[in-house]
Amino acid sequence: MAQAASSARSRKLERGRAALLAVSVLLLMAASARAAEPTSEQIEEGVSIDEDFCAKCHGRDMMNSGGLALDLRKFPKSDFARFRNSLLNGKGGMPAWRGTLTDEDIDLLWAYIGTSSGD
Ligand code: HEC
Repeated sequence: MAQAASSARSRKLERGRAALLAVSVLLLMAASARAAEPTSEQIEEGVSIDEDFCAKCHGRDMMNSGGLALDLRKFPKSDFARFRNSLLNGKGGMPAWRGTLTDEDIDLLWAYIGTSSGD
């Protein structure tokens, strides 16, 4: 009798573990599916780099106050290569950022720019 009860309990435990495992697997899958999306920490870092280096020309929150600098919200979100190239080498009235910004900084800025609406 005592044995039957304990084996019922252990079956229950087994089921509990299996369910937990299934949930963890699902969570892991969800996490890896989102791996390509920037985290909110990365976006925050992008914001702070933007405030340090870009906002004086491109405006706070990427909102151009009407100067010559491009409205960053309109930059095509599919063209990271152009973004990186324009930053490293400069463009028109914009100085080159090679040597000032690291590749990681550029990735973080790109994560931030990706949050804006527009193209
Ligand atoms: C000294 C002012 C100035 C600063 C600081 C500045 N920019 Fe610019 N930026 C410009 C101007 C002016 C243009 C327009 C260049 C053109 O098309 O002639 C521009 C253009 C751009 C473009 C469009 C490039 C393209 O391919 O059309 C991007 C993207 C950009 N800036 C990002 C940034 C980022 C990110 C920062 C901060 C690291 C930054 N800029 C800092 C003045 C500035």
